[in-house]
This record gives sequence, C-alpha cells and structure tokens, in this order.
Amino acid sequence: MEKIAGCDVANLAKEYGTPLYILDIEAVRKVASDYLSIKNYYPNTRISYASKALSLTALYQVLDAEGIYFDVVSDGEFYSMLNAGVSAEKAYFHGNNKTIDEIKYALQKGVGVIVVDNVDELNTIHEVYSELRLSKKVTIMVRVAPEIEAHTHDFIRTGQRDSKFGVNLENVVGFVKETQKYPEFDFVGFHAHIGSQIFDTDPYHVIIDKLIDIAVDVKNNTGILASVIDIGGGIGIRYTEQDDPPSIREFVSSIAESMKLALKRVNFPIEPMLILEPGRSIVANAGSTVYSVGGIKEIVGLKNYISIDGGMADNPRPITYGAEYSAEIVNKPKKNLKKYSVAGKFCESGDILIKDIDLPEVHKGDLLIVHATGAYNYSMSSNYNRYRKPAMVFVEDSKSRLVLKRETLDDIVRNDIRI
Ligand code: LLP
Repeated sequence: MEKIAGCDVANLAKEYGTPLYILDIEAVRKVASDYLSIKNYYPNTRISYASKALSLTALYQVLDAEGIYFDVVSDGEFYSMLNAGVSAEKAYFHGNNKTIDEIKYALQKGVGVIVVDNVDELNTIHEVYSELRLSKKVTIMVRVAPEIEAHTHDFIRTGQRDSKFGVNLENVVGFVKETQKYPEFDFVGFHAHIGSQIFDTDPYHVIIDKLIDIAVDVKNNTGILASVIDIGGGIGIRYTEQDDPPSIREFVSSIAESMKLALKRVNFPIEPMLILEPGRSIVANAGSTVYSVGGIKEIVGLKNYISIDGGMADNPRPITYGAEYSAEIVNKPKKNLKKYSVAGKFCESGDILIKDIDLPEVHKGDLLIVHATGAYNYSMSSNYNRYRKPAMVFVEDSKSRLVLKRETLDDIVRNDIRI
C-alpha cells in the first residue's frame, strides 16, 4: 500500500511524522452513501453515526455534510459535534449514566433526542428540565434491553437479561406510562443495540420484529404509538482475511425489507422512522496507522520482534480484546516473507500489536502501515507512559489535511500543578 486516496504514504509520514493516523475521507463518504442508500427502500430512515468509534471535529463536519445524524454518549462528544458547527438537533444523546451536568448541558443546547436509559434517569432529566425553566418540549426515546445478544458469528435470542443498559422488557409498558407524567416530554419510540462486530444479519431481523412487537404492546396498553424505531449499530468489518461481513448495501436493503415485513405482519398503522446507528463500519476500514520501525530483535529459532514507535496507547484493541490486524511494510514488495511479531513501545509485555505476521525483511527506519484502524483506536487512545498521542490527517483527492495535531510535551503537563 503506497498511496491512500492518491496520497503517498511515505510522504505523509515524512511531512507529519509517525505514528500517524490517516483517514481516507473518500472511503468514509462512500460508506455513508452506502448506508443512505437504504432510503431507496425505506425513505423514512436516519443514519446516526455512533461517534464513540471516532470523535473529532473535522469528522463531524464531513458526516454532517453527507446528511448523517449523530449518536453522542458524553458532553465531550456533544461538545465536539457542536464545535463542528452541527446543529444540536442532530444529536441523539445516549448513555446509561448521564451526569446531571451532561443532562443540563444537553438540554441547554437543545439536544435533538435524549435516549433515556431507565425510569430513574427519566425523573432526573425532568428535575433538571424544571430547574432550567425551559419551555421547549424535549424529545425522548427509551433504550430497551432486548434480550438478544449478538456476537461476531452467532446470537442468542434470550441473551443479556443482566445488561447494564436499558429497560427490561417486562418494564417497558410501565416506563412509557411514566413518560406521560411529564407533558414537557415528547416520547417518540424505542432504541436497542445488540452488540458489535456482528457478521450475521439475522439478529437484526429479530430485533426489528421485537421492537415492533413492543410498539404494538405499548400501543395496546397505553394508547401511545411509537413513531421511531432505532435498531442500534454493530455490523462488523474486515480486519483480516478471515473476517467476512456483509456489504453495507446488502445489509441495509435487507434491513429495509425486514422492517416493511414486520410492519405488515402486525398491520402497524404508520411507517415509523427507522434509525441505524453504525460506528465502526463508517470509519474502521477508512483508517490506517503508520509507524516507524525502531529496534529489531531476533531470538534465534524462536521469534523475530520488530518494535514500532506506538502501540497500546494509540491502539488499545489488541491488548484489550485480543483484536487482530493486518499490516504491510510501506514500499516493499511482499517477497521473501519472514514471520514477525510487532511489538509496541509501551512498558508492558502484553503490548504486542500483531502476534504473527509475514513481512518482507524489515529494517530499522522502515514504515509499517496497519490497516482498518479508523474505529476505536484514537477514540480509545491514552497517554500511557506519558506518551504523546499521534496526529491525524484526512486524505482525499490526492490532498492531505491535518485534522488533529500531534500532542506536545507541553500538552502532557498541561493539567499538572507544580507544588
Ligand atoms: N449504538 C450504541 C448504543 C452502542 O453502544 C454502540 C457501540 C454503537 C451504536 C455502535 O456500534 P458499532 O457499529 O461501532 O459496532 N470498543 C469496542 C466496541 C464497543 C462498542 C460499544 N457500543 C471495540 O473496540 O471493538
């Protein structure tokens, strides 16, 4: 891989330094438009990007322009979205324990929708709302614990009753009744999220059926008709050759079909808005990280380590989840391959970015590019060992643009107080 969106990777490394996060904006726009193609089959759909996957001002700007909405789960994500100039109304505010300050901030700024996690939170939001003496109605949804648990390859229809998120099924009718105590709240519908890095579309059909059944049950018991059904995110992406996710266009057309069938099955009186909340699949494959190779350690008959100038602080997924990545040496043909382990520079033996990978003979100073690092890398990065976080560039149309500055040593001590 020598070029990304027309930009030479080695030149990018020279210009911006390493480690460097690169995000291919052409690829991001393509996935966004693949998602939005669902409107051809089910027009009343919104795509709400789960910005926990990668949250930064410039990305909110790009996705806003594409017509995407945003799932935010903290005041920090919401603030970044507003910093991008996105209208507060485009935010869906999620989270199982929104703090009072976060609720206050969201209400004051006019957040689009609050996805309420439990009755306690409903009451807290109302208290904050009353204190602020606001007059505009607040749109709310409820997160349901759907008792479907999906993993990469399989799912359990009755999983995860003990989830920390959402209202359990037997309490949903009661929750909706509670919302009616507050005429200042406009209750619009149901949200559920079944998992992440899922390759199978079946659990999504099951969740659609389930949410529609809940909507019918609520209607029969309370007279309230849901106008929004939000099925969360989670569709998987290809990290290595073993991964086999569906294409986004296939996925969304099957979701639209399933939604129409479910509505028909119960004779639902309206076409509710459908919301999809993808995070990883919007940005993961568009991202790569370039590192410089430092030391090389050959343990004869056992292992060859190459050490890079980053690791678990900029990509905590291998050490956290045992996640696997593919990589290449920039500008070196894949010939005379040798087995290597890619070691990070952080002071933990577990900081191995890739356990086993075939690479051409590696030398000090070579550049290693790791693929599919766009999601949950920068957003989960840390300053472990007080190392500075990398810079990020967007590449598009053979042009690069710095969107995140490399941290400086001053940044590292910015909040320190001398005594
Ligand atoms: N909606 C809700 C309510 C979520 O909790 C999540 C992810 C998403 C949408 C987006 O899911 P995605 O499309 O990105 O799979 N840190 C982990 C992933 C955690 C996902 C948490 N929730 C990782 O690096 O694999």
